[in-house]
Amino acid sequence: MISTILQPVQTDDLPALDQLREAIQEEYAVVANDPAHGFHFHTGRPLAAMLGYHEAWLSAVPAASIASFAGTGNPFHIGELQPGERVVDVGCGAGIDSLIAAAMVGPHGEVIGVDMTPAMLARARQSAAEAQVANVEFREGFGEALPIADGWADVVISNGVLNLMPDKLKALQEMARVLKVGGRLQIGDILVQKPVPASAKRDIDLWTG
Ligand SMILES: C[S@@+](CC[C@H](N)C(=O)[O-])C[C@H]1O[C@@H](n2cnc3c(N)ncnc32)[C@H](O)[C@@H]1O
Repeated sequence: MISTILQPVQTDDLPALDQLREAIQEEYAVVANDPAHGFHFHTGRPLAAMLGYHEAWLSAVPAASIASFAGTGNPFHIGELQPGERVVDVGCGAGIDSLIAAAMVGPHGEVIGVDMTPAMLARARQSAAEAQVANVEFREGFGEALPIADGWADVVISNGVLNLMPDKLKALQEMARVLKVGGRLQIGDILVQKPVPASAKRDIDLWTG
């Protein structure tokens, strides 16, 4: 189904993958370490309010992870997670959604956040320790090769990362691989309504924004 909608990526139209990832890591290290720096995208508590995050959810999340929030949607808008569920948060950033998910699934549920940017993972781990959240773990890895066993998750959430991965077919196939049969995706991301020109795809600055 996924592969009938999305075609394999055309790499000729793209910057080299390692260059692109390096630029994205540089940008999001600043979001992690200096969230007040100012970005050409929204961040932090104002963004969370704009996207309909409930104050009750945010009360489970330390201020540093809220400040470094950089999502593009709200994965919980289509439904809260259920007690006992296993959750993977792809591109977890500073951990806001992972920590909200950990509170929703409770002590019998588990959450694994995955991100490729060490500074974001450090922020997420610090917040989990500060809030004494025991049912969340953060792993370094790529969305295109998730460090998660097949069929582990009841739910895959992600927020703002699919738009940063050129090979969206591979990213969605990975999400499908780690989901158990009958599992579900809750994704907040950016949709474009017309094709992105090749010149824009080649511009790394447009990706990191
Ligand atoms: C827009 S931020 C959103 C972070 C978080 N989901 C949030 O809502 O605050 C995108 C995150 O995805 C991560 N990321 C980008 N490309 C990735 C990839 N290919 N694999 C894993 N993480 C990636 C970045 O390091 C960054 O933390």
